[in-house]
Amino acid sequence: MAELTNPERRMLRAMKNRLESWSLEEILETCDWSDQAVAVSAGHGLSNHGYVKMSETSVTDVILGEEGEKAASSGLLEARLWDFIQSNPDATMRDISSNFERHEAGPGVGLLKGLGIEIQGGSFTCDDPESVTSAISERTEFIKSPSLESPLYSHFKSRKNLVEMVEVVTRTWKVTKSGMNIPDEDLEEVVRIAEITPELLQTDTWKDAQFRPYDVSLEANMPRSGRSHPMQALIERIRSIFLEMGFSELVEDYVQTAGWNMDALFIPQDHPAREMQDTFYLDNPKQINIDPKTLADWKAIHEYGGDTESTGWGGEFSEEVSQKGLLRTHTTVNTIQYLAQNPSEPCRVFAIDRVFRKERIDRTHLPEFHQIEGIIMEPGANLGMLVSTLKTFYAKMGYPEVRVRPAYFPYTEPSLEVEVKWRGKWLELGGAGIFRPEVTEPLGIKDPVCAWGMGLERLAMLVLGLDDIRQLYISDLEWLRNQPIL
Ligand code: PHE
Repeated sequence: MAELTNPERRMLRAMKNRLESWSLEEILETCDWSDQAVAVSAGHGLSNHGYVKMSETSVTDVILGEEGEKAASSGLLEARLWDFIQSNPDATMRDISSNFERHEAGPGVGLLKGLGIEIQGGSFTCDDPESVTSAISERTEFIKSPSLESPLYSHFKSRKNLVEMVEVVTRTWKVTKSGMNIPDEDLEEVVRIAEITPELLQTDTWKDAQFRPYDVSLEANMPRSGRSHPMQALIERIRSIFLEMGFSELVEDYVQTAGWNMDALFIPQDHPAREMQDTFYLDNPKQINIDPKTLADWKAIHEYGGDTESTGWGGEFSEEVSQKGLLRTHTTVNTIQYLAQNPSEPCRVFAIDRVFRKERIDRTHLPEFHQIEGIIMEPGANLGMLVSTLKTFYAKMGYPEVRVRPAYFPYTEPSLEVEVKWRGKWLELGGAGIFRPEVTEPLGIKDPVCAWGMGLERLAMLVLGLDDIRQLYISDLEWLRNQPIL
C-alpha cells in the first residue's frame, strides 16, 4: 500500500463508512477539520492513489466586493441618505455634506436622483416616497443575498466594488473499490517526525518513530548566503590545479621597474609597447634603483649580445629608462626575478596576479586584469613538456581541446600562442615559449625554462559564458547570486 499522510488516512477511514459522495462540508465535519485546504489536499492525495474519485463542478456566482461588504454591515449609501432625509425633512445639501463622509455626498446625490428625488434650492423633494422606499429595500435585500439571476445584478455590477463575479468550484469525493479494500488498521494515524532535534536524539523515542520522507521534487526557496565572487572562486580553482600539478605559488608586488618588466626580458628599449600609451609609468616612485652589475649585464646584452652569441638590438641602452617605476604589464616580471634569485635550482612556479595596461575599456579590454603565469625550469625542459603542461591545465579546467600556434615574444624562442576550443571556436588565451639565452644567460641559468602567461579574465569569460568582460566587475548582485559554484 502506498504511504498515506495522516490527513489522507483520516479522510479515507471516514469515507469508508459511506459509499455515496461526500461534500467538502461533510468531510470537514466528520474529520473534525476547520481548514478546507487540509481536506482538499488529502482528497487530491487519495484520488492520486486511486482510493477516492473526485468530481469537480464549477459555477459562476456573485459575491460582495469591498464596498458591498461595507453596505451589508452598515447599509447602502442610498438607504442611509434616505433615512437621513426622512428623519430630517428640511435637510439641505449642506446637512448632507456635514453628516456624511466627503466622498459619499457626490455619488449619494446621484443615487438619490436616480431614485426620483429632486434637489431644489438646496433641499430635497420627492413625488413618490413609497416607491423610493421599496426600491431601496429591494436593493438592500440583494446585498443580503446577491444572486446572478436577480434583475438588480446589472445595476450593482455598474457600481464600483459592490459585487464581483467568481468561479466557484464544488468538489465531491466518493470512495472507490480499492479505497474500500484498505483495512482500517492501515489507516491508523501515526506520529511522524518531520524534524530531528537534539531533544529527540537524547531519548529513545526516535527508534520506533516514523520519519516523514522528504519530497525533493517540491519547489523550495534558495537560501541566500554569502559566497565567493566568481573571480575569486576561479582563482582558487586554478590555484589548486597548479598546486596539484606540483607548482609553488609566487606572490609579488605590482610596482616594478622597467628593467625587470622589460629589459631583463630582452624587450628592446624602443619597443612600442614600452611607450606611455601602453604602460602606466609612476611618478612615485619615479625611479627604483637596480644594482649596477645587473644594469651592466642588460646593457651589454641589449647593445651587442654580451657573452651570448646574440648580436643584441644595437643602439644605446639607457640605465635611466631601466630604473623607471611602473605598474607591471605582465607577471613575467616576477617569474624572471624568481629565476634571477634562484638560477640553479630546478623549479615549477606559478602566479595568478594583477597586471596593468593602458587599455580603453570595452567588451574585451580592461586596464587592470589578471594573468596566470608559470615557469618550469629543469634539465631537459622542452617545448613538448610546455605544451603538455598547458593541455593538462586546460583539461582540468574542463577544456580538453587545446592547440598551439607559432607566435613572437622578444623573450622566448620558440614562442607559442595557446588557443582553447570553446563552442566550436578557437579562442586565444595566452602566450608561451622557452626563454631565450639573452634572458637566461646573464642570470646564470643553465637549464631550459618553459614559460607562459595567460589572461585570467578571458578564461573567466569562457567559464561563465560571458561576452562582455566588464560584467565580471560591475557588482551586479542579481548576476552574482546566480553564478554557478566554480
Ligand atoms: N607575458 C606575455 C603576455 O603578457 C605572455 C608570455 C609569458 C609569453 C611567458 C611567453 C612566455 O602576453
